[in-house]
Amino acid sequence: MAAQSDNSTKRNSENLLNHTGEGVVIDIGTGDGRFVYRSARLNPRKFYIGIDANAAPLEKISMKATRKPAKGGLANVLFIQAAIEDLPEELNASADEIHIHFPWGSLLRAVVTGDENILASLRRLGAPECQLEIVIGIDEERDRTEIERLALPKLSTEYLKNFLIPKYAAAGFETLESGVLNASEWSRLETSWARKLQSGANRQVIFLILQLA
Ligand SMILES: C[S@@+](CC[C@H](N)C(=O)[O-])C[C@H]1O[C@@H](n2cnc3c(N)ncnc32)[C@H](O)[C@@H]1O
Repeated sequence: MAAQSDNSTKRNSENLLNHTGEGVVIDIGTGDGRFVYRSARLNPRKFYIGIDANAAPLEKISMKATRKPAKGGLANVLFIQAAIEDLPEELNASADEIHIHFPWGSLLRAVVTGDENILASLRRLGAPECQLEIVIGIDEERDRTEIERLALPKLSTEYLKNFLIPKYAAAGFETLESGVLNASEWSRLETSWARKLQSGANRQVIFLILQLA
C-alpha cells in the first residue's frame, strides 16, 4: 500500500472504499482530523466532515482548514464537535461514506457490540447506498483496562460472522467485506492513531465494509 491519492487502506490491491469521485464523507471519532484533512486535500471534489466528541484535538485542524488555500486552507472540510450518541439532525441522509477508524470509549463499545441505537443513527446519516468503513484495533494486553471497563467481547472472526455482521444486517447494513488487516496494511492508514499504534505488534485490527441496503 504505497502513498495513495485517496488515503484509504488497500487490501488485495483494492481500496477498502473508493475515495475518488464526488460525495460527502463523514469520519466519526476523527480525533485530530488527519484522515479528513489529508483526504480532502487529495480529493477536492468530495466534501469531508470530521466529527468528534472531544473538541480539543479539533481546534488546530479547524483553524488550519479556515486559512487561505496557500496556507493550508481547504473549502471542502468541516469539523463538528458531537458524540455519536447525539449526531446533528442536519446531517441526516447526507453521507455517501462514513468512516470510523480506531474508535475508543463509548464509540468503540457501540461499534463492537453493534449497539442498535447507534446503528440506527449511522443509518440516519447515510444517503442511499452509503458505505460504512469501520477499522477496530485492540491489543488484549495493553488495552485490558479499557476492555474490562467497557465489558467488550473478544473479537474473533467467529464473533464477526455469528454476532456482529447479523447485528449490522438487522440495522440495514449489508456487509461487503470483513476480516483482519495485517500490520503492513493498517499501519499505512492515514490516521494519527494508525501511526501511533505502529509499535504494537500484538494489536489485532479488524475491518468491516458495509453498505446501506
Ligand atoms: C483512538 S482515537 C482515534 C482518532 C482517529 N480516528 C484516528 O484514527 O487517529 C478515538 C477517538 O474517538 C473519539 N470518541 C470516543 N467516543 C466518542 C463518541 N461517543 N462519539 C464521538 N467520538 C468519540 C475520541 O474523542 C477520540 O478522538
